[in-house]
Amino acid sequence: MYTIDTICICGAGTMGSGIAQVSAMCGKQVIQFDVNPEMLRKSRESIDHGLQIQVNRNRISAPEKKEVLDRIRFTADSKECIADLIIEAIIEQKEAKTNLFRELAALNSPQTIFATNTSSISVNAIAEQLPYPGRLVGMHFFNPAPVMKLVEIVKATQTEDAVVETIADLCKAMGKIPVVCKDAPGFIVNRVARPYYLEAMQLVSSGLATIETVDAVMESTGFKMGPFKLMDLIGLDINYSVSGIVWEALGNPIRLTPSPLQKNKVAAGELGKKTGKGFYTY
Ligand SMILES: NC(=O)c1ccc[n+]([C@@H]2O[C@H](COP(=O)([O-])OP(=O)(O)OC[C@H]3O[C@@H](n4cnc5c(N)ncnc54)[C@H](O)[C@@H]3O)[C@@H](O)[C@H]2O)c1
Repeated sequence: MYTIDTICICGAGTMGSGIAQVSAMCGKQVIQFDVNPEMLRKSRESIDHGLQIQVNRNRISAPEKKEVLDRIRFTADSKECIADLIIEAIIEQKEAKTNLFRELAALNSPQTIFATNTSSISVNAIAEQLPYPGRLVGMHFFNPAPVMKLVEIVKATQTEDAVVETIADLCKAMGKIPVVCKDAPGFIVNRVARPYYLEAMQLVSSGLATIETVDAVMESTGFKMGPFKLMDLIGLDINYSVSGIVWEALGNPIRLTPSPLQKNKVAAGELGKKTGKGFYTY
């Protein structure tokens, strides 16, 4: 088992920001890194807002909120990314992730654990590019990370058992429910959920139903969010990349073909809540 006192989260977007909040709330020293200083500013604001909600609900006190925030250091300098655990939550592109891990592996101790929050990229394929493949693991949080309990822990072929156990224990300390799964396209949740998004977009593209109708109908059957609201929350760019990666990894099955409707939205920069417009306007 490894000791985790410091956690560095790379990427301060939708997921990185939430993971930084969860990590600091469980008492860890946190380094929040992003190449974009504006994202770091927004992340600090979003964590402050998330913690204030907890204060208003009497779940933490105002001094505790300050202690949590004080445990997070925000930086745009990758040389400061030295930690016991590095969790990446950057763009969903294999080369970007492997390049970052290789850069940080050269700076960190051979004991450092590397975790990827990827939704769909093969953890084995990333591990092959790293100097210590046994210490790479998938740590797939769900959106919003401070709220959603599930974390898929993806064990690649070479991932050490001690790494999986360390990450599972950490998840429990964060109040999460870890589920260890195999390195298969989309792991479990993103594989099963693919048709939820794709069939919904197919229906709308064919003129058979409106976005609002599909969402309302699915919510009325018990789903917490209709597919279009959910895609807007996830980010259309991320959801579109995941669809493409899962589709390719499974040998391009017609039923999982990425949607031109979503492709056009991404090309127009309409990425969902994070840009103020996606399938809906915010
Ligand atoms: N959005 C979701 O619902 C969701 C859920 C689970 C997992 N994920 C996964 O989490 C990862 C991040 O997704 P997101 O929705 O937070 O994306 P996002 O677009 O909100 O944020 C990505 C951030 O990474 C930063 N970044 C890009 N390249 C970087 C680099 N080389 N070094 C440091 N920072 C860099 C960007 O500036 C941006 O702030 C993806 O791999 C995605 O598949 C997303």
